[in-house]
Amino acid sequence: MRIDIISVVPKLMESFFAHSILKRGQEAGHVEVILHDLRDYSLSKQRQVDDYAFGGGAGMVMSVEPIARCIRHLQSERHYDEIIYMTPDGETFNQQTANQLSLQGNLLFLCGHYKGVDQRVRDMFITKEISIGDYVLSGGELAAAVCADAIIRLIPGVLNDETSALTDSFQDNLLAPPVYTRPAEFEGIGVPPVLLSGHEAKINEWRFEQSIERTKARRPDLYQKSGL
Ligand code: ADE
Repeated sequence: MRIDIISVVPKLMESFFAHSILKRGQEAGHVEVILHDLRDYSLSKQRQVDDYAFGGGAGMVMSVEPIARCIRHLQSERHYDEIIYMTPDGETFNQQTANQLSLQGNLLFLCGHYKGVDQRVRDMFITKEISIGDYVLSGGELAAAVCADAIIRLIPGVLNDETSALTDSFQDNLLAPPVYTRPAEFEGIGVPPVLLSGHEAKINEWRFEQSIERTKARRPDLYQKSGL
């Protein structure tokens, strides 16, 4: 998979993609993440990419020209399965969207700033609009990083244990069960004995029950959706 991200502050995301699982996923050739500085596509001397809103009002609007130039340049090199604009008024991101996007070949993310982008960008180029929650960030960069992280870890081979992404919270609309590691006893508190039993079927049954109890208690809305 290839993920391109257009931003006015690409440096903000550099270190995020240069560490841990995301770094390993790139080094192993499972995914390539390329950051693009929108200002490189401005024709103005000051590398300006925004302007005052027609009709007045506070806040600047990201101009259509540099964004169009950047997207068209990238499109001339490859086809994008989705061109995604990160915006608080998009559809709320969830595990199902992450699963779907992880199956694509080339994704392009556009990070908004200020008052957002000129509506013509959205009408002409954007195929999907995503929000990561009902709050407003100062830019779309963190939101794009959140989506890219959730997508990349689902690509086969990126996680060491191939099955572990499938047992995450939210797959099957259930939250993940509690987990424990050594020591088996800490300050008098032990771990559930079944986990030490070595009996795989019983362990799986216990984990499933715990998932159900957790989901019922913490996320009754998800429990409803699970159909259990
Ligand atoms: N840009 C600003 N706020 C955002 C949010 N909640 N989700 C996605 N992009 C954003």
